Formats: sequence, C-alpha cells, structure tokens
Amino acid sequence: MEQAALFTIFGGTGDLAQRKLYPSLFRLYKKGNLAEHFAVIGTARRPWSDDHYREIVCDKIKDLNPTDEEKKDFASHFYYLSHDVNDTKHYDQLKDLSDKLDEQYGLQGNRIYYLAMAPQFFGTIVNHLKSQGILTTTGYNRLVIEKPFGFDYDSAAELNQQIRNVFPEEDIFRIDHYLGKEMIQNISVIRFGNNIFESLWNNRYIENIQITFSEALGVEDRGGYYEQSGALKDMVQNHILQVVALLAMEVPTSFSNSSIRQEKVKALEAIRRYSSEEVLQNFVRGQYDAGTLDGKDFVAYHDEPKVAEDSLMETFVAGKFLIDNFRWSGIPFYIRTGKRMTEKGTRINIVFKQLPVNVFNFEQEEAKGADLPQNILTIYIQPTEGFSLTLNGKKIGQGFNTEPVKLDFRQSAEVTENSPEAYEKLLLDALNGDATNFSHWDEVANSWEIVDRIRHTWDKTTPGFPNYAAGTMGPQSAFDLLAKNGHEWTWQPDQWYRERG
Ligand code: BG6
Repeated sequence: MEQAALFTIFGGTGDLAQRKLYPSLFRLYKKGNLAEHFAVIGTARRPWSDDHYREIVCDKIKDLNPTDEEKKDFASHFYYLSHDVNDTKHYDQLKDLSDKLDEQYGLQGNRIYYLAMAPQFFGTIVNHLKSQGILTTTGYNRLVIEKPFGFDYDSAAELNQQIRNVFPEEDIFRIDHYLGKEMIQNISVIRFGNNIFESLWNNRYIENIQITFSEALGVEDRGGYYEQSGALKDMVQNHILQVVALLAMEVPTSFSNSSIRQEKVKALEAIRRYSSEEVLQNFVRGQYDAGTLDGKDFVAYHDEPKVAEDSLMETFVAGKFLIDNFRWSGIPFYIRTGKRMTEKGTRINIVFKQLPVNVFNFEQEEAKGADLPQNILTIYIQPTEGFSLTLNGKKIGQGFNTEPVKLDFRQSAEVTENSPEAYEKLLLDALNGDATNFSHWDEVANSWEIVDRIRHTWDKTTPGFPNYAAGTMGPQSAFDLLAKNGHEWTWQPDQWYRERG
C-alpha cells in the first residue's frame, strides 16, 4: 500500500545513506510502497545542489536496474539542504522546505527523521527539531536512529533522556539491521511455529548454543570509529545480544511488539552479570595480525589506516553467556565474532544433549562404546539462508551402524549482501509504525549493562595483541574457552578443516 511521508535524512551524503538507504527506498518505490506521496530531504554539511544529490542517488540505485523513467521520477523526489546541525537558522530552512514539500506532495504531515550520522549530534538534532517547530501536529513524527546508541550505559541513558524529551518511546525506532534480516526473523518462526523444537528448547535437551558472526573483511576505512568501539561494542552490544534474546526468550503471548519486547527484556535481564574474575574466565579477545586470505595478503590491524600502532582494541571476541532462569540455567550460550576471519559466516548452532546410551552395535571394533553424534539444529543467517537438522540414521546394509544425516533447507537470499534488503524491511516497518523489529530502550540498557562489565575488566588488563593471523578463526583462547567445558565449536569454514587435513 502506498505510504505518504517525508524522510529527512541527517547524514544524507554519508556511506550508510548511499549504500543502504537509497537502494532500500528505491526498492520500496518499485514495490509501490512509495509512489507519488513521498519526498526525501538529504542534509549534511557538504554544499551539494539538488541536481548533484539526485545524480548520486541515481548512481546508488543503478545496480537495481531502474528504467530511465523510474530513475528520473524517483530522483525527482529528492532534495538537498546543506546543514550545520548546531546552527538554528538551518533548522528554519529545513522547516520551510519540509512544509513546502508536505504541501507539494500531499504528505499529510507524516515525518520520518533518520539520524544516519555521527552519534554525538543525535541529542542536538532532536532538541532542535522540537525547539525550531519542525515537528508536525497533523501527522506522525518518527525518529529512526542508527547505532551506536551511546558508548556505554551512562551515555546511552543520557542520550535516551534527550530523545525521550522530544519523542515518545513508540515513535523511536532504534535500528539494529540484523533484526531486519530474513533468518533472524525466522528464529521466532522456527521456535514458536514448530512443536518439535519449542518442546525441546530448554536445558533438559540442549547442551549449548553457539553463535558465530565471522567476517572476512577487516576494518576497511573505519579505523577511526573502530578504535573507539572494537568488536565488543560494534557487534556484541547490539546484534549478538539481540540474537541471544531472540533465542532465549519465553514464548510471547502474541506476536506483537509489546509482548515480544517484554519477553526479550526478561531474557536479557536474566543474563548473568559477571564479576571481573568471571569476565576473565568467560570472555576472550583478539586482534588480527597480518595474514593471507584467499591467496591475498592483508596487513595487521595496527597497520590499518587511522589505527594506532600500539592499539589495544579488539577485533575479535568470544565468550560464554549464562542465563539464570528456569529454562536456561547451566546452559552456555557461546558467541564469537571477529574481523578478518576465514570467511563471512553468520550462523547459529543449537547443540542438543548427548543420548544417555548408544544402543547400537558398531562393526568396527574401535567405534564400540562411542557416543552417537549429537543432534544439531543450524540456522544459517548469511551468506546462505536456511536451516538444517543433523540427525543419526541407519547406514544402508546389514547390521545397525549409524551415520549422520542432514535435513537441509536452504532459501536463496534476494541479494548476496543482504543488509540492503534488511534496511528495506525496517524502513517499511517504520513507515507502518511497527517497532517490533527495532531495539527498545530496555533492551539497549540491559545490553550496555552486560557489555560495560566486560569492557571495564578488559580496560584494566593488557592483552597480548596481535594474537590471530588474518584469515584464521581467531585466537587459540577462543577454542580453549569451549574445550574447558568439554565442548567445541561445531562449525568451522571448510577451509579450516582442509588446513587441518
Ligand atoms: C555493523 C558493524 O553493524 O555490522 C560492522 O558496524 C559489521 O562492523 C556489520 O561489518 C556487519 O553487518 P552485515 O549485515 O554485513 O553482516
């Protein structure tokens, strides 16, 4: 259904807007969710003209094969305003342009303010939107806000307060683009739509859960940002803890924003808050050294642009979360994420408990008495999407020898790098006023509480960095972490196995 809205994108010249937002808006346009009644104001400091802005927008959607007519019409809805976020005069211009476009395109006073820029300006922008009278009274005013939401609990709470002075919680859409990914959304369907899983989804049947977010990319040109953030704040505080919450939460009473949110918050509240000693036992960090990946040489993290030579920032984290509630008591949720690992692979392995006894005879003498392989449910998030279940079946032939068999379902992602698609879904959710797939304040607050404890402990100790070569699956300590509990990572990229014969 066609939606009427004005998008104001702060950071309209930036990487995120160009790579993700413009293609996503175009997809919504192609599908008819945006048609005549929409306009986009891009703002940033650069002195661009509308024409130049439209050229950039056209360039960013070219891979989506627009016709000339589509390109021309779509781009004609885009306007550019050079803007200094601290200068109130500029907000007066923004108000005039917004009101004019509202009338011109029949936007019914519906406004979406998208903050896709440096987070230190979020508070200022939001205050000025109110003080300069930009918010409308005829339609809705929604705020879409990119991460990072603060850099620790205190700063996040302060930012939240500033925003909440202007926008009510239901109009704040804190983006976590993983929540827009098809298979992350599928976690709830796999769990709550299948009796065979939900009945077993607890500490009586599951031995451990393993969440891997590995990336082959390094920090690219984001050294400046990454030096402040590291893997812990960049990936664990948001994406990974959201996934933990989705895997761990109780069954919501209905699939509504408020029920899901309540259950996610309860799960996050139950994650054990570690003492410093426990942090050191349960979390390890790494930083990549020079290495080879797919036959190409890569430099060490500390030789990347805008990174300090003696940087102590982690590019890899592995850890074990414990959830102290009835369902999960005693079950480790292992997580690992890092840059410059062997390959891009985001997947979740649910490892079921060993059977108490293996009743089958084995032909081979040495296999006698061996345990049967454990059942594993794998959820493939990216690059392929799907899920599989590893079971034990009978080997064809005489006797009762067993072999692992896989029930495997793969669906193809519409595009190889699927975040733009995630953004498309999230933008449409924001247009529909549906905040289910966004992070709510209580979730963000809990995540920071958990992550702050890890960060504070790490800040007091000096790691021996670098400690893993580019192109590997992280430091040895990430393997030891599981080994000391008698567990192992049940997924590694094929290359990892090849290297070990
Ligand atoms: C972002 C992080 O939130 O997620 C990046 O800032 C990371 O460092 C990216 O590369 C991963 O997202 P995706 O969708 O490519 O898996």
